[in-house]
Amino acid sequence: MINKAIILAGGKGTRMSPLTKAVNKQLLPIYDKPLIFYPLSILMLAKIKDILIIVNKGQLNQYKKVLPDGKRLGINIVYKEQQYPKGLPDAFLLGEKFINNKNVALILGDNFFYGQNLTSKLINCTKLKSGAKIILHKVIKPELFGVASTSRSGKILSIKEKPKKYISDMAITGLYFFDKKVVEYAKKLKPSSRNELEITDLLKFYLKKKKLTSDILGRGGAWLDTGSIEDFYKTSAFVSAIENRQGFKIACLEEIAFNNKWIGKKEVLDAIQFYGKCEYTNYLKKLIA
Ligand code: G1P
Repeated sequence: MINKAIILAGGKGTRMSPLTKAVNKQLLPIYDKPLIFYPLSILMLAKIKDILIIVNKGQLNQYKKVLPDGKRLGINIVYKEQQYPKGLPDAFLLGEKFINNKNVALILGDNFFYGQNLTSKLINCTKLKSGAKIILHKVIKPELFGVASTSRSGKILSIKEKPKKYISDMAITGLYFFDKKVVEYAKKLKPSSRNELEITDLLKFYLKKKKLTSDILGRGGAWLDTGSIEDFYKTSAFVSAIENRQGFKIACLEEIAFNNKWIGKKEVLDAIQFYGKCEYTNYLKKLIA
């Protein structure tokens, strides 16, 4: 079982400078909410309540202004600062105490997921007992991501970080599920040629032991990038199109907590007070009407 997760929200966001000079990327808006709401909502949909958010050195206070603590959402949020970005597996070194020898999930702070059967897929992934599980999604430019080649039956054959030569068009998305061995393996990693610890190298430990499995987010689901300013606008447009058509919000944290029965009307009213007059608040009012 997986009851704990880490959101890695470090990184300098240099590709989005000057926007990211003063504000962390994960606090910039994807349509009507800060980016960090989206990965957090994914963990909440997976019914994970114990969450560590890793942020850049010096940015803790900004996060605490938007997500003061998890209590209002019926969850537990703790923070840890990263001195400088050392690669994704650093999350497990920084989070060792938080992980406390338990299974753990990792989601990248800038990853956006959406899809009809996503919640049941996520809950299924949290049932992992041993090994590691990744979520694959077909992309047109696999050379930009970590990728996995699989057999017809879905067995993972190989994985490679940003392959120059084509091996597969299935990207490894930024949502990972690990057993408690992850910390031990992360400690064994050496920096790659881009001087970072690579998540794909970490996954290779599991692959070698035949302990790496995958699930596929198919064409009915969306995995979008928020790496560049262009991607930010495209993802914002996606959220806006869906929300304004259906009237449902994507990644409304209080709605997920309320539906999960982690909070009641009182907490939603507190949230309404906290956010003040805005569209998001109007939505919350309808939720408890
Ligand atoms: C990282 C991982 C890569 C993964 C991607 C998902 O890439 O290294 O394997 O596919 O996140 O967003 P990076 O953002 O470091 O280029």
